[in-house]
Amino acid sequence: MTARVVLGVSGASGAATGLAVSRRLAALGAGIDLVLSPAARRTLAQEVGPEAEAEITALATRAHPIEDIGAEIASGSAPVAGMIVAPCSMRSLAAIAHGLDDNLLTRAASVQLKERRRLVLLAREAPLTLAHLRNMTAVTEMGAIVMPPVPAFYLRPDSLDAAVDQIADRAVDLLGIAAPVAQAWRGEVSGG
Ligand SMILES: Cc1cc2nc3c(=O)[nH]c(=O)nc-3n(C[C@H](O)[C@H](O)[C@H](O)COP(=O)(O)O)c2cc1C
Repeated sequence: MTARVVLGVSGASGAATGLAVSRRLAALGAGIDLVLSPAARRTLAQEVGPEAEAEITALATRAHPIEDIGAEIASGSAPVAGMIVAPCSMRSLAAIAHGLDDNLLTRAASVQLKERRRLVLLAREAPLTLAHLRNMTAVTEMGAIVMPPVPAFYLRPDSLDAAVDQIADRAVDLLGIAAPVAQAWRGEVSGG
């Protein structure tokens, strides 16, 4: 599988979802163009550990400085299948919703929308303001998929890592670049 995917990691809580998405994409053989925001560097270190940034960078095919608005992925001409932002902060969500294109992460997201490609946003905040909700509506109207990083409680994950991996697998499945990998609900056991 040779799909090329942009992975943006912004500074919302849930940095582990970005790492889990990159592990899954790498396992599928996808090429990863990685963009980390400065706040994501901080949450990766704080929430996952001091080695997290080095690991996610090593899994990427290309790691782009967020200031590099001249990178290939800033253009719709780059042969990219789609993009995941995991996690997606309310700041990056707002920038994407309003077409600000103010750094390489939000520019690459905008490119997916204008090229009518998949854009999956693991938008994370709680509780939500009306601004957050309106921005989620706006990106949905433009074709993005808002997938809050909420655990699949119905699968009864036995650890936080299992819940995070399930979230990452669902996000990757939404790109539609490979056969589904996420654990599926198998129906209720009746009777008994
Ligand atoms: C530990 C930590 C957790 C945070 N959690 C969230 C969050 O869950 N959602 C959010 O929208 N912002 C959160 N923030 C704030 C963002 O990092 C901040 O708004 C930042 O400007 C986002 O910039 P970015 O979108 O370029 O990454 C958090 C910040 C820190 C340091």
